[in-house]
Amino acid sequence: MDSLVDRFSRRIDYLRLAVTDRCNLRCIYCMPPEGVPHLDHGEILTYEEIIRFLKVAVRAGISKVRLTGGEPLVRRDVERLVAEISSLRPSLDLSLTTNGTLLASRAEQLASAGLKRVNVSIDSLDPDTYRHLTRGGDLNAVLDGVEAALEAGLHPVKINVVTLKHLNEEVEGFLDLVDRLPVYVRFIEYMSPCGAMDSSYFVSNAEIQARLMRREELQEAEPPPGAGPAKYYRFPGAKGLLGFISPVSSHFCPECNRLRLTADGKMKPCLFSREEVDIKGILRGGKGDEEILDAILCALERKPSDHGGVLSFTRRTMSQIGG
Ligand code: 5AD
Ligand code: SF4
Repeated sequence: MDSLVDRFSRRIDYLRLAVTDRCNLRCIYCMPPEGVPHLDHGEILTYEEIIRFLKVAVRAGISKVRLTGGEPLVRRDVERLVAEISSLRPSLDLSLTTNGTLLASRAEQLASAGLKRVNVSIDSLDPDTYRHLTRGGDLNAVLDGVEAALEAGLHPVKINVVTLKHLNEEVEGFLDLVDRLPVYVRFIEYMSPCGAMDSSYFVSNAEIQARLMRREELQEAEPPPGAGPAKYYRFPGAKGLLGFISPVSSHFCPECNRLRLTADGKMKPCLFSREEVDIKGILRGGKGDEEILDAILCALERKPSDHGGVLSFTRRTMSQIGG
């Protein structure tokens, strides 16, 4: 298989693919209360268009594909897309990031369609705090979703926790979760430039880690395969692992291996970059695979070395870019 290498010698093999910009939650750090304007259906790539793009991307060197949103499970029959992607190349590391609210009834079908694993966002284990942060989400439904994912064999189940000052700093409950279930809980620093709240809500992972260490002795753990930018820890007796993803306090751009495709068919070289390469125009303009490949190479060429200079320039929210 070919490989994609950018100007800074980084090997790019991971594609985050947003299948919708819609979401059934309204997390306070992601969206204003009224939500964000939605794309029209005609703006969104069809499954056929996604598959056509992926055929070229996989041939060029993409070996990991993550479906994101918005909330990917609100797009109709996403299982069909999973099955089609999986049959393109069964060895693809095919995963999905979800808020988990719809996962309980879908995990089994997703796994049989060929999905390998899931990441579930759970920002608090306190039902009231969870409801507040998500503006109405039901924590129990999400926890049922996590159990269903484990039962369906969608391993490893990773749980993403974005921490916010004064809102959900009480993270000790996640120690009990990791004690009980074989999940990887990862604390993610809030990135205010792509969020709906200002930087005064930022809490560093050093603070979160110090808090957890007051209760348990955390020992550095071997990163699991495909760990990405997280640092992992374990504590005696626990079934799962704890991880820390620190996009703000420790820059991991030198290890970046990803490209992004938005739901409306634009490739983004970096989460923080303004630049977009129009894939939809190529797909709908009667162009061939050569042009699709050229566009992928163009996005690759435009990957910045880091996001230092572009931190404040995003125009879309996370639900619009695809988390
Ligand atoms: N900073 C950090 N993480 C964010 N997410 C969404 N917005 C932000 C932000 N501003 C996270 C979600 C989810 C993943 C898709 O991205 O909580 O875990
Ligand atoms: Fe919350 Fe993710 Fe939906 Fe944004 S896209 S509102 S972070 S669940």
